[in-house]
Amino acid sequence: MSSFVSIYSRFRFENWLNASLRTFSSKNRYAHTDLPKVSFQEYRRKSLRNSNVSTRRSFDERTVANHVMSFVAGVAGLYGFKSHLLHYIEGMGAARNLVAEAQVEIKLQNINVGKVSIFKWRGKPIFVYHRSQAVIEQERQTDVTKLRDPETDEQRVKRPEWLVMIGICTHLGCIPIPNSGIIHGGFYCPCHGSHFDGAGRIRKGPAPTNLEIPEYRFLDNSTILIG
Ligand code: FES
Repeated sequence: MSSFVSIYSRFRFENWLNASLRTFSSKNRYAHTDLPKVSFQEYRRKSLRNSNVSTRRSFDERTVANHVMSFVAGVAGLYGFKSHLLHYIEGMGAARNLVAEAQVEIKLQNINVGKVSIFKWRGKPIFVYHRSQAVIEQERQTDVTKLRDPETDEQRVKRPEWLVMIGICTHLGCIPIPNSGIIHGGFYCPCHGSHFDGAGRIRKGPAPTNLEIPEYRFLDNSTILIG
């Protein structure tokens, strides 16, 4: 009897074990451990990719790099600011070439009687006319009341033999030709036919006013300073 019980018991245990194993092996697995692991390595700094290097070390390296970059950016910023500032400070004063052009000294001894020499002053042509006695007398006898822009010859010169003018036609800005036109010893603007006399006064043509007289003075008998 006892042997029957023992055989029976053993039989039941084996059945239970087999059933349990079958049940266990046929269970669904809900943990998706077969999915590939996502790697963010390529998004990490190069200095942090090596897991064997301590974070402290890379932190120190990055701190040093940041300080160097801040220093370089600061120096560049200061240099740019200084250049900008200097640009404005220099711009507030006149440029050297403009200062040099502000006044022009002209030697008169090489300008012969009857000749007009042309100089440049502030980008404009300056006519320096060494007038003959005949031209001086002619201009002094002109009836000023008949002129479009009435000015006496004495008002236009500091010394009778020297006429100093800006050589730009007062009509539209052409440069008149000396010793040309209908007036003896005068000037002619070919652009639209303006005639100026030997004192630079408009006598015929569309120019509305006389040729302009610049600011000048005699430094001595043979030198003038324009400007
Ligand atoms: S520009 Fe001289 S006449 Fe017109």
